[in-house]
Amino acid sequence: MHADHSGKKQAREEGVIARKLMARAQAENAYAEGEAILEVRDLVKHFPLTQGIVLKRQVGAVKAVDGVSFDLHKGETLGIVGESGCGKSTVAKLVTHLEQPTAGTIRYKGEDITRLSGRALKAVRRNIQMVFQDPYTSLNPRMTVGDIIGEPFDIHPEVAPKGDRRRKVQELLDVVGLNPEYINRYPHQFSGGQRQRIGIARGLALRPEIIVADEPVSALDVSVQAQVVNLMAKLQDEFGLSYMFIAHDLSVVRHISDRVGVMYLGKIVEIGTDTEIYEHATHPYTQALLSAVPVPDPEAEEGRERIVLEGDVPSPANPPSGCHFRTRCWKAQHRCVVEEPLLIVPENFTDTAGDEPVHHPSACHFAAERASVMPPAEG
Ligand SMILES: Nc1ncnc2c1ncn2[C@@H]1O[C@H](COP(=O)(O)OP(=O)(O)OP(=O)(O)O)[C@@H](O)[C@H]1O
Ligand code: SF4
Ligand SMILES: [Mg+2]
Repeated sequence: MHADHSGKKQAREEGVIARKLMARAQAENAYAEGEAILEVRDLVKHFPLTQGIVLKRQVGAVKAVDGVSFDLHKGETLGIVGESGCGKSTVAKLVTHLEQPTAGTIRYKGEDITRLSGRALKAVRRNIQMVFQDPYTSLNPRMTVGDIIGEPFDIHPEVAPKGDRRRKVQELLDVVGLNPEYINRYPHQFSGGQRQRIGIARGLALRPEIIVADEPVSALDVSVQAQVVNLMAKLQDEFGLSYMFIAHDLSVVRHISDRVGVMYLGKIVEIGTDTEIYEHATHPYTQALLSAVPVPDPEAEEGRERIVLEGDVPSPANPPSGCHFRTRCWKAQHRCVVEEPLLIVPENFTDTAGDEPVHHPSACHFAAERASVMPPAEG
């Protein structure tokens, strides 16, 4: 009787363990390479515009992010590109929970994380880290490199118990290509490129799955930019990271991005694989940005058309009706004033096969290829 009982108990326990293992395997499989690890839908961030010193009243809103949707797949790099003020950093801050959205949802591994707080938020934040733009101002000048890189361990001591921190920080310095003996130095004792390596080491400290890098190379010399981009590509392979990589111009993200989203005045206007965007762009704004991409080979440059955009980006407090780009678009027509184009596969391309390079979302009523502006394909 007793033996029968313990046999059943053992079988039950084995069943529980098997189910747990299966559930874990399913969870891991669900986020295999290529699955959407982050799903952003209709994200909106409006900053209130106020007037009056004592009695502040809202007189409007800066529509920094105005309905942005995209997926980030496991192991990929999604480049986000656009002119100053189009809302790139605000998207980065929303995704990393440094800002709260006005509307929209962010799902991480299928779970809605938009309005998490307390311990649940802390756990998610560990997995979604940010690397900042300016390595000169984003590192505290009064802290040693060891303290800067190890600071995230104060919030998550479970990752590195106090006695183990020094070793972990030195390991991180080594991983980003810095001498582990530099641990007691201060930021001013490093070059710009080295400082950005320190910023990256800090971003890696908690072993996140996603890194949102907000213009990580914009403040660096061109010669150093490639080194930092290459380091990030190496770390991505080593740690299976997914990146959102933000930059001003399309040439910076080309080498590292699997897909690229182009932003204009709070919206994504075109999104697709690198081939779709760099060789088959259909949105006039993307084409204008591509026409400005420098090409070192004078022969390839010959015959290329340069589209110079007139005027400035309008204020996000008062964006144009219809298509936000219409005040600077050479193709604008009446329809563009009255009807906002949606970010979908354009009508004229819906009959083409799904794997055709023009069959990708572009928010333009008159989307069309313009081969004369594209830089030549990479060899
Ligand atoms: N905290 C804030 N309060 C009010 N307006 C803000 C705030 N943060 C950003 N904005 C405004 O929102 C818009 C988008 O700003 P954001 O920093 O996201 O742009 P960006 O694309 O990152 O620009 P840049 O390339 O210059 O970094 C800008 O008009 C900016 O002035
Ligand atoms: S919808 Fe009109 S204004 Fe907007 S990008 Fe297309 S052609 Fe230009
Ligand atoms: Mg920015």
